[in-house]
Amino acid sequence: MNCNEVRRILVLLLLAPAIAQAQSSSLRVNGQRLMQHLSELAQFGKNPQGGVSRVAYTNADLQGRDYAMGLMRAAKLEVSIDPAGNIVGSRAGSDSSLPPILIGSHIDSVPEGGNYDGDVGSLGAIEVAQTLNESKVQLRHPLQVIIFQNEEGGTIGSQAISTGLSERDLNLVSQSGKTIREGTKLVGGDPARLAEAKRRFGSIAGYFELHIEQGGTLEKENIAIGVVEGIVGILHSDVTVEGFANHAGTTPMDQRRDALLAASQLIQAVNRVVRSAPGRQVGNVGKIQVWPGAYNVIPGKVVFGLELRDLHANKITSMFEDIQAEARQIGQTSGTKISFTEPVVSQPALTDAQFQKLIDSTAHELGFGTKVMPSGAGHDAQEIANIGPVGMIFIPSVGGISHSPREFSKPEDIANGANVLLHVVLNFDRNHHPDK
Ligand code: GLV
Ligand code: MN
Ligand code: MN
Repeated sequence: MNCNEVRRILVLLLLAPAIAQAQSSSLRVNGQRLMQHLSELAQFGKNPQGGVSRVAYTNADLQGRDYAMGLMRAAKLEVSIDPAGNIVGSRAGSDSSLPPILIGSHIDSVPEGGNYDGDVGSLGAIEVAQTLNESKVQLRHPLQVIIFQNEEGGTIGSQAISTGLSERDLNLVSQSGKTIREGTKLVGGDPARLAEAKRRFGSIAGYFELHIEQGGTLEKENIAIGVVEGIVGILHSDVTVEGFANHAGTTPMDQRRDALLAASQLIQAVNRVVRSAPGRQVGNVGKIQVWPGAYNVIPGKVVFGLELRDLHANKITSMFEDIQAEARQIGQTSGTKISFTEPVVSQPALTDAQFQKLIDSTAHELGFGTKVMPSGAGHDAQEIANIGPVGMIFIPSVGGISHSPREFSKPEDIANGANVLLHVVLNFDRNHHPDK
């Protein structure tokens, strides 16, 4: 080898990282393939009116999970199901001493839900892994694409691997009619080994979740990317109103203990309490059952589901206390007994400030405008915030509609979001040196 050849090789070696960086900065996901995958996933649990019912632990959920695992294998991810029932697709990094970067979301839906909530982030994360695989990009960090089980029923899978599930959580009956314990087993988890699924604080480099906004701000302001600053906490409690079932024709109006009438007064009170203070807090009563349920019988018992949300845990607690005080009053005046189940709460969480900056600068590098915003919907990221830093990328939801068959995000926005996720992962992997 002569002197010139040696010099050329040295220059190439010196330039190699810069060349690799230039190559990876032009990387883009395959947006068409991602849309194809979303429409294939939409077949599982498809409803005639559009959208899906892919409620966790139903056949449609199992079919959707099988489909997603197939996509992961095609992206050369090593697929496993952790004892909590979450699907994990792993890709090795060049430095196995580093903790993994997690990306993902969920593919279960609410009853009569849409095709974008959770699906965009889950299949978007698989698309990122497939893009890295096809371009033979080697990350320093291991990468895990994770599809959490039963997000819609209370961020169950993400809670299981962070703060853990209690016996009470496991015995709760989910929307499918199965308990969380039964459902976790059904999807391939092992409720007896849940402790093994738990990850300790610091065991992940970070978690990035791509998601549709589910509100109308980004669309209205014509902004491509939302940078989430925090995720609301959510309280659920079942409220039981017990009156006295009696003949609806013979019992005088002033002698009735009508459970549904009292429940309706309390539902009004929920709305009043939530609206009585300034802020973005919200409350909902979205399901109700009446017994015995006949034209000619005064309702003897009602159970309804109460939900409260806010970015601050103390606001949620004070709204719940005020609603309980209203219930005591209504119980007294209506001759009914009103009780609340011990609330199930997902705590609110802030996203990591550095991750917000990273998402913001990466989106701008790709030419997108951004807006920092809170999330009024719950997400797995709020549970994962207990074990490491989290960041969330929002894309616009047309008309701000979600949890509905009319939920829709444009293919272009979906591809943009997946590209931001891809480059957030690349930038994080390149620049994150925890010891420095
Ligand atoms: C999850 O989608 C929630 O906000 O309920
Ligand atoms: Mn949802
Ligand atoms: Mn979701």
